[in-house]
Amino acid sequence: MPKQLLIAIDGPSGAGKSTVATLLAARLGYTAVDSGAMYRALALLALEAGVDPSDRPALGRLAASAEMRFEGGPNGSRFLLNGRDVTDALRSPEVTRAASQVSVHPEVRENLVKRQRALGRQGGLVIEGRDIGTKVFPDADVKIFLDASLEVRGKRRFQERQAPGQANSEEVIREMAERDQRDQHREQSPLVPAEDSVRIDSTQLSAEAVVEKVLELVQRKTAAAGSSGKQTLH
Ligand code: DC
Repeated sequence: MPKQLLIAIDGPSGAGKSTVATLLAARLGYTAVDSGAMYRALALLALEAGVDPSDRPALGRLAASAEMRFEGGPNGSRFLLNGRDVTDALRSPEVTRAASQVSVHPEVRENLVKRQRALGRQGGLVIEGRDIGTKVFPDADVKIFLDASLEVRGKRRFQERQAPGQANSEEVIREMAERDQRDQHREQSPLVPAEDSVRIDSTQLSAEAVVEKVLELVQRKTAAAGSSGKQTLH
């Protein structure tokens, strides 16, 4: 039985991390984890409870008391927050905005990072986010930094989720640039490529082409580890 690797994918929003992580996990028989869903879930709780996204102690308490669970289902992975399926609610523009704001606080990050590490203990995981290769799993077996031009990322996001309240792709691009700025310049775990990550630019690549590149790295890693068998691809 080949070693079950831990694969970290970081990068800005709209670079294709979720799609790539899902496809890759299916090919390898691994589990895909979208760590951003946890930040979004906390933002949803804060919005519902009327907690200000700058109220650090209150956000810390919300994080500590929340129950978060990923669950497989016929329509793909679902996210359960305190037993409630909030998968669709997590994608609203309000939640997207608030998630970027709550994720800057150490009280929030410490709690969610602990949960992410607990999921990764077994290996066999493709986990994507902003700080996975730098902070959550600095010893990940394969680290990818997936990037794309702001314009292409904004257009993809707009086409994926023509959300009510977002009038045009220019508006999506402008808000995305604002969140990128916050993610890259926050004090706690800013979005930066891990030194030992491999950068893939998906501006001109399909998700399938990115997956093929990552699979090559996975196979190289498995071979280098001197594993007895080849990585099984499904
Ligand atoms: O990947 P996403 O757009 O669903 O992430 C939502 C927000 O959460 C985003 O503004 C950045 C933040 N985030 C983070 O700070 N660290 C992570 N590992 C994942 C997401």
